[in-house]
Amino acid sequence: MKVALASDHAGYALKMGIKDYVVKKGIAHQDYGTHNEESVDYVDFAEKAMDGILSGDCDRAILVCGTGLGMGIVANKYSGVRAAPCCDEYMAEMSRSHNDANCLTLGGRILPLDEALLIVETWLNTPYEGGRHQLRLDKIHAIERKNFKS
Ligand code: RB5
Repeated sequence: MKVALASDHAGYALKMGIKDYVVKKGIAHQDYGTHNEESVDYVDFAEKAMDGILSGDCDRAILVCGTGLGMGIVANKYSGVRAAPCCDEYMAEMSRSHNDANCLTLGGRILPLDEALLIVETWLNTPYEGGRHQLRLDKIHAIERKNFKS
């Protein structure tokens, strides 16, 4: 699994903590920026990471802004992306087991690093359950096909 990482200025410090974690765990990753705490638009960095997913360079993404909300809104504009803003381990677990979320979004202004790393660990290690949940994902894909321009 290769993980795309991206943040804006408000998520930069937390993203770097997550990057240290994935490096320590030997998880393949690509950092799509931003690379410092100068103010930028989260939209641009979500877009770079999602391009990494759509091109097949990365399998999953972890995006960090101030709240995780803006990043999630952008990521969910992409067909095939299921982005989940998560505030705790339970949400992270459910986002994988029920929603097969391929993008985790986090808030650098709301989560300390230790809590965020527990969320990341849970999210990376929880498998998708499939079964009844797949019928629901199929309905989401049908909505994408109906409403998204490609
Ligand atoms: C930046 O101030 C902030 O708006 C951004 O990081 C994010 O929280 C938006 O959703």
